[in-house]
Amino acid sequence: MTDLSRVLAGIEEQLSVPASLLKEIADQFQAAMTAGLAGKPSSLKMLPSYIGVPTGREQGTVVAVDFGGTNVRVLLIILTGDGQVHISNRRSFLLKDKRKNYDFTTASASGMQLFDFIAGKIAEIVPTTDKTYPLGHTFSFPCHQYDINEAELISWTKEIKTAGVEGQNVGQLLQAALERKEIAYVYPQAIINDTTGTLLTAAYRDNATDIGAICGTGHNSCYLEPVHPLTNKPMIVNMESGNFSQIMQTKYDLCLDQDSEKPGAQRLEKQTSGQYLGEIVRIIVSSLVADGHMAGEPANTLHLPYSVRTEDLSTILADHTAGLEAVAEVAAACWNLGNLTLGELAALKTIARLVAVRSARLVAATWAGVLYRIDPELNRTHTIAVDGSLYEKMPGYAEYLAQAMNDVWGIGAKKVTIRLSKDGSGIGAAIAAATVYSWQ
Ligand code: GLC
Repeated sequence: MTDLSRVLAGIEEQLSVPASLLKEIADQFQAAMTAGLAGKPSSLKMLPSYIGVPTGREQGTVVAVDFGGTNVRVLLIILTGDGQVHISNRRSFLLKDKRKNYDFTTASASGMQLFDFIAGKIAEIVPTTDKTYPLGHTFSFPCHQYDINEAELISWTKEIKTAGVEGQNVGQLLQAALERKEIAYVYPQAIINDTTGTLLTAAYRDNATDIGAICGTGHNSCYLEPVHPLTNKPMIVNMESGNFSQIMQTKYDLCLDQDSEKPGAQRLEKQTSGQYLGEIVRIIVSSLVADGHMAGEPANTLHLPYSVRTEDLSTILADHTAGLEAVAEVAAACWNLGNLTLGELAALKTIARLVAVRSARLVAATWAGVLYRIDPELNRTHTIAVDGSLYEKMPGYAEYLAQAMNDVWGIGAKKVTIRLSKDGSGIGAAIAAATVYSWQ
């Protein structure tokens, strides 16, 4: 065994999530869900959404606002009432643009400016006829929800720092902005999390859907609690599972966490989401170089945080050439590591794979935890709806998730379908707005 393969074997051991650990995490996750629902201390917020699943018969033309990061989308969506959805208009816009000299995401911008900007964009795409349009708003940040259209932002995540929004009712902020702009023909009906949107979109067509998740830049899941203690009926619960904190951290995770914006927070998200996977790989590779297990000059850019993106990991994982040319290109372009041997390039690819596999297996363990709660014997079929770039684009990720479910349930895993809910985050807002009347 070479020195590098010996060290790699050690890293593999630290990152591996064997079937027994999957089940252990699922058990712990289930216990954290129970505690969170009962209002006891838990790293899972278990936020009520005040919405259940749609019937598929909801119809109408609905405006959807999808706000989950610096890129906001406004869509005009037609629900046909037979499970079909048409997007008749959509536009994406940036909340910060250096060239145009604005940034509504910094602490020097106010919530009023932010929502006035969004309201202005709504006016640009909604036709001003004598018709009125219900509006659904996907707001993908942790919120205390008091009703389907009342959500109070607990705290910003994902680097957004706009002043005067935390602790405020986001529904009112948008409503006030629409009034200031005299957009009376659009009336907000619902605010949801993006995981909820993903679940609703899949459930509109497939009534076995009871888990929704985002595996993208961020990570989070929601599920349908069959009898919610607040309402005594089925209700979707946004778990904010990216904050689940009971999974062991390796020294690489600890290093990432310590240098992050909010150390200690969003621990599962830091081990699983697209925002961080590249950085975990960078930390591992730079420790290999620093300890002399891999070649590399001290002057290379390997010490620069976030210098490899998750898209680069996808490029690495898709490289099946004999010379691993794409892996070499990524190492050279991101880190100036231009002189790696084939063995070292293979090691880089192995590290990327180990980090991606761990992410998928940890996420799958949390879904197993949800199923342990809602249907431990798997008596019914279940669909888990997922949206996000990691799930959609990372080579192998969907298979790693499916493999993990097999490891937990064996043949029973056939009853669990994991499926892409494309654009579910935005479309779900429209479905939520259209569902409001039938649910209440
Ligand atoms: C972050 C947010 C959460 C959202 C997820 C995916 O984890 O806290 O609300 O669902 O990102 O966008």
